[in-house]
Amino acid sequence: MSKLVTIERFIFDNQPEYAKGDLTNLLYDIALAAKIISHKTNRAGLQDILGRAGAVNIQGEEQQKLDVFADQTIFRICDHPGRLCVMASEEQDNVLHIPDQYEKGRYALVYDPLDGSSNIDVNVSIGTIFGVYRYKEWELRGRKEDVLQPPRDLVAAGYILYGSSTMMVYSTGQGVHGFTLDPELGEFLLSHELMRLPEPPAYYSVNDAYFNRWEPEIQSYMRWLQGYAGVGDIAAPSLSGRYIGSLVADFHRNLLRGGIYMYPAEKQKPDGKIRLLYEAGPLAFLIDQAGGYASTGREAILDMTPTELHQRVPVFIGNRSLVEKVEAFVRKEQPIRL
Ligand code: AHG
Ligand code: MN
Ligand code: MN
Repeated sequence: MSKLVTIERFIFDNQPEYAKGDLTNLLYDIALAAKIISHKTNRAGLQDILGRAGAVNIQGEEQQKLDVFADQTIFRICDHPGRLCVMASEEQDNVLHIPDQYEKGRYALVYDPLDGSSNIDVNVSIGTIFGVYRYKEWELRGRKEDVLQPPRDLVAAGYILYGSSTMMVYSTGQGVHGFTLDPELGEFLLSHELMRLPEPPAYYSVNDAYFNRWEPEIQSYMRWLQGYAGVGDIAAPSLSGRYIGSLVADFHRNLLRGGIYMYPAEKQKPDGKIRLLYEAGPLAFLIDQAGGYASTGREAILDMTPTELHQRVPVFIGNRSLVEKVEAFVRKEQPIRL
């Protein structure tokens, strides 16, 4: 019979001695937030029906949007245990300080509380993404500088997928591990130990409605992925297309089946759409741990130093062979055809 391992036990057993404190506990905190958001997500459609009369719930509170709820849940769980010195959320303009009455800890948390928000109202998978950095300077901890660090310096990163089941996937730099929530027990159980990107890859994932807005090199790369003759020096592996429009869900599927997710720059959006701090950075850390690679097309996302909280970057993330190929197209080293 296979072992039954809870996320708490796995985190504790697999953490080096020095980290068996705040980081371990912070990951438990995030798992708790995940359970609360998951519960709320599963009731989202019902709450719509129950709250339709004036959008006021049974406690007399106004119905909250799920992304605001997720944002506040993570903050309220993480602001007081003394593990964090600062947080930054995709939903907030500025960094979130630890309230004065609580102790400041050694870690900084970045998060996208609800990823794929356009999918909430249509009952399609959504997610949460997070990353954890160590403080920069002890005496000054709690500043923006604590979160403006290259993703390579993350000490942990992960995501929660609210899909056909809820999963939490994370890495502390010793591989990527996945846990599935048993809703009856309220426990995340180890279901995917040491996840690695399979070869050959199965999928490409992109919003190709924007094809006409991309640079010619990216358009050609797309044609290469699709198997057009005369593009690129060697044939691409045979791929199928899948695009959900929730980065977490697209990333998760490609992690299990192999593939590439991309959100290129556009003529009117030279940095694309995906945010470096809350989305691209943590997922770049995970893909590296799973044997893959993340690039802007020009440089490795892991090595970028963010300069602004809400900075956006073009993203190509997945199996290394597919991502390195897009870099070769961008360097104009590949035969192109439009
Ligand atoms: P968010 O909901 O956190 O703002 O992120 C949405 C992102 C990402 O999840 C997804 O891959 C992408 O936006 C979809 O954008 P398009 O609708 O432009 O394809
Ligand atoms: Mn997002
Ligand atoms: Mn979001």
